Amino acid sequence: MIILGIETSCDETACAVVTNNHKRITILSNIVASSAKLQEKYGGVIPEQAAREQIKSIIPVIEEAMNESRITINDINAIAVTYGPGLIGSLLVGVETAKTLALAWNKPLIPVNHLLGHFYANWIKQSSAISYQLSDKKQKKSDDRRLMTDDYPQFPCIGLLVSGGHTDLLLFKNHGKYKYLGGTRDDAAGECFDKCARLLGLSYPGGPEIAALAREGNPKAFDLPRPMIDSKNFEFSFSGLKTAVANVVHSSQFTVSSSKNSERITNNELTNNLCASIEAAIVDVLVAKTIRAAKTYKVKQIIIAGGVAANQTLVRNLECTMYNVQLKAKLHVPPPELCTDNAAMIATCALFNFHPVDPLTLQSDPNLSLNNL
Ligand code: KG4
Ligand code: ZN
Repeated sequence: MIILGIETSCDETACAVVTNNHKRITILSNIVASSAKLQEKYGGVIPEQAAREQIKSIIPVIEEAMNESRITINDINAIAVTYGPGLIGSLLVGVETAKTLALAWNKPLIPVNHLLGHFYANWIKQSSAISYQLSDKKQKKSDDRRLMTDDYPQFPCIGLLVSGGHTDLLLFKNHGKYKYLGGTRDDAAGECFDKCARLLGLSYPGGPEIAALAREGNPKAFDLPRPMIDSKNFEFSFSGLKTAVANVVHSSQFTVSSSKNSERITNNELTNNLCASIEAAIVDVLVAKTIRAAKTYKVKQIIIAGGVAANQTLVRNLECTMYNVQLKAKLHVPPPELCTDNAAMIATCALFNFHPVDPLTLQSDPNLSLNNL
């Protein structure tokens, strides 16, 4: 089976061709054009602008994915598309394009929940992922396959989704069979990274920026809160952490030391230490809740997904804590380029959850969640 996947939920325009020949999920092509560089200027995503960029990129990205995969339209068995959640203008571009292609090419159309799709990056065995900015055509391949194994994740498993807009814990019993355990009450983990980065004058998206500076900093330098770390439920809250970081940034200690440059905080050591402390606070909460869920449900496997799963401190901390508490579960993490938004995960989700719909009836749903499936 060969599936063409389309993903346009936010500021990435993505198309991938994925196959499950010989019971292996293989990526034949995986193209991501991002307007993040443009959004960076404004410190976040401007929905209208993201939608306009989607319109510009969608056809070139699909053409590129088709060319690179070396398949023909006849080889495609189905088209998968993200139909929510996300920005309505961005979603519409992908959904309406996928509906048109499904009708024109006479292919089944499979709608995919973006959040569920993120988890399926864990089912892709060999990645040939390539991501590049359409503008500069600079291609990069990631060699980080450290945690890639030849095994599919085992059920039951705990899934932690940590993306820009969502932080959710799920208990997967099988494909399409899962229980929602809890999510964030306010900001998502990625959102917290992004908002803290903005407070520090760093660029968008903030997660990778904070992670890079954190490498040079001391995670114990600032005593930041770990919201809800001891609560017995599987809910999260990160808005208090962001407020605590704002208080530090506006405190005399920080501003006096940083006042040499009023535009941008330049005191390297303080900034690095604060970045390391922010990262540690977010990671501690995510790890504690995930381990508690794994213990409670006695699972064989933990999988993580979403942009924040590309954070190496999170991965290392989770590995170490699982070892220290002697948790008898394996950890599976997708390679970094498959953690952030891409269409290979959407096509893979459709392979395992093959539920075609009538293209004429499919509607984008910006508020789709994992809680009400
Ligand atoms: O899953 P994703 O690509 O898009 C959404 O569906 O939201 O996640 C984007 C989020 C952003 O908040 C970004 O700052 C964060 O993932 N992120 C990271 C890292 N790479 C991306 N956060 C922490 N460390 C990283 N290395
Ligand atoms: Zn996402």
